[in-house]
Amino acid sequence: MSTPKRYTITAALPYTNGPVHIGHLAGVYVPADIYARFQRLQGKDVAFVCGSDEHGVPITIKAKKEGITPQQVVDKYHAIIKKSFEDFGITFDNYSRTSAKIHHDTASDFFEKLYKDGKFIEEVTEQLYDAEANQFLADRFIVGTCPKCGFEESYGDQCENCGTSHNATDLINPKSAITGATPTLKETKHWFLPLDQYEPWLKEWIVEGHKKDWKTNVYGQCKSWIDDGLRPRAVTRDLDWGIPVPAPGAEGKVLYVWFDAPIGYISSTKEWAKREGKDWEPYWKDEDTKLLHFIGKDNIVFHCIIFPSMLKADGSYILPNNVPANEFLNLEGNKISTSKNWAVWLHEYLEDFPNQQDVLRYALTANAPETKDNDFTWADFQARNNNELVAIFGNFINRVVVLTHKYYNGVVPAASDFSEVDEQTLKELQAYPAVIESSIERYRFREAQMELMNVARLGNKYLADEEPWKSIKTDEERTKTVMYVALQIASVLAVLSEPFLPFTSEKLKKMLNVSPSAVEGSLAWNDVSLKQELLPTGHTIGKGELLFSKIEDEQIQKQLDKLQASKAMNEAANRTITPQKDTCTFDDFTKLDMRVGTIIEAEKMPKAKKLLVLKVDTGIAIRTIVSGIAESFTAEEIIGKKVTVLVNLAPRALRGVDSEGMILMTETPDGKLVFVNPDTDGVDNGATIN
Ligand code: MF3
Ligand code: ZN
Repeated sequence: MSTPKRYTITAALPYTNGPVHIGHLAGVYVPADIYARFQRLQGKDVAFVCGSDEHGVPITIKAKKEGITPQQVVDKYHAIIKKSFEDFGITFDNYSRTSAKIHHDTASDFFEKLYKDGKFIEEVTEQLYDAEANQFLADRFIVGTCPKCGFEESYGDQCENCGTSHNATDLINPKSAITGATPTLKETKHWFLPLDQYEPWLKEWIVEGHKKDWKTNVYGQCKSWIDDGLRPRAVTRDLDWGIPVPAPGAEGKVLYVWFDAPIGYISSTKEWAKREGKDWEPYWKDEDTKLLHFIGKDNIVFHCIIFPSMLKADGSYILPNNVPANEFLNLEGNKISTSKNWAVWLHEYLEDFPNQQDVLRYALTANAPETKDNDFTWADFQARNNNELVAIFGNFINRVVVLTHKYYNGVVPAASDFSEVDEQTLKELQAYPAVIESSIERYRFREAQMELMNVARLGNKYLADEEPWKSIKTDEERTKTVMYVALQIASVLAVLSEPFLPFTSEKLKKMLNVSPSAVEGSLAWNDVSLKQELLPTGHTIGKGELLFSKIEDEQIQKQLDKLQASKAMNEAANRTITPQKDTCTFDDFTKLDMRVGTIIEAEKMPKAKKLLVLKVDTGIAIRTIVSGIAESFTAEEIIGKKVTVLVNLAPRALRGVDSEGMILMTETPDGKLVFVNPDTDGVDNGATIN
């Protein structure tokens, strides 16, 4: 595409069954926001849209669990999510929701048009049914083994392990997520999008057309699905939460959530256009529009294969120019998990680090999972802040602002002769916008942000080399020139940091006393390469304030403790307690003769991994007892140990050795055996236990 006339930028609609966490931010919303802000700074026409994905099975499951309605679930999380995005400076032009009327209408009309044009196959097939719960099972209502990778907890529509999307009936050993029952098959009518018919076209469009410009992870996934062969996909479901299917004979059926949700991008654009008095259609139908979908890797098939096929079936829409999907962000070495509370929730982050949105944006971009899964650690977060934002960016700005006030009462001094270093520095500055642009246009946001930091590095080096705090005593003219150049570097940072560190950029502009962006007279992105002078001589800068502050070890420890607490909670929740046995009478109990004893000899049973042969002094006699504890103890370490022995257990032969009793044991959660060793100090062998 040559120069696009406008940009339609979408960010995956988050499911409204929980708040958003750092994984969402790093994978989708920060890169999308950097891109959108960057294009706006370039003066481009941008529609950056998103909204809450409020249909689908997970929401109904959550509602059931909490004893509230699905609408109550989505109302709650829609508000939390929307606020988190605002708090982190994600500049959506519109944030909608799929329960909005405009979306129901748009999605319903979309289906109806394809229906009338004969684009669906209408078919009665056998679908999985939970007789106990009295309902059909689809998507996340069903769990089973993935036919592609063998992962045992794949969902009905998609495997979280390998990303494959499939039909629920493809699963091996399917189980109902509602009752745990093995489902039966029951006939029901559904509408299918015949993806197989789109295969030749998808091959041409993606496999041949986007080999070079799509990210390798995205292209690779698409190619492998297309190579595997595509099959018709049901776009309707037997559920009661969703958008009713507008077709005769479809009572009680709703649109598949992955059919309606991407249409949410269109509805959100419509809602925005209406509010702004614009026409939405060029943003979706004009060939000169660049349509981009920012998503996580688990969404690739839906955005590259299914949604484009829907758009193609309609015929009046443009197709995405690119789908820059990211891989996943892990947290301290483990997969982020909402259900296990292994996450850093955005609203909680802001409670602990108020006004430090940019620090998180920075750390997440520096570590963005652009080409492979990446790990977020609190130690890295702290280091990024202390060693980069504070020590490089903040330090440079602080020195410039403080010295300008100290030497010149805050007025930009006049430069006299530029040295070669000055000339070189000013020239280098002018090259940065193009360098950063080139990275952003290739969706390499980590690289782009690193280049931004190089501007701050350049500034620090310049000051360290030119030492105005020394020259002020000997050469006033030279000092003025140095400070003039340093102030130009500071203003370049104020402009170029905006897509990445928007809050910092605003603050810095205030400190330099230039208008905030989007206000008349503000410095524009392109001014940096066009003008050598952004802050003219005689301009008075504003008051200094700290841009970043050091994050202390205690703050980091608090976050690590929080995660540790989640881990402990999970372990407690996962502990399986053996159910209580049937009641026994006192007589039953007294039949057991248990005594205190001491192990006096122990040796390994030859050729048996688990068995030790023990001699135990039970007070009654020295007994031989064969015990299955060799994987937990060595023979040596248990000699002399006080134990509890069931002495009247009928003897039995184990590997040819007569065992004359049993030693009572218990087990730790990870399977290590432990002696049931009552507090028997001062008790003799042979003492009875009752
Ligand atoms: N809700 C989905 C998820 O969180 C993403 C939906 S993207 C859309 O994985 F295209 F359907 F909107
Ligand atoms: Zn799989």
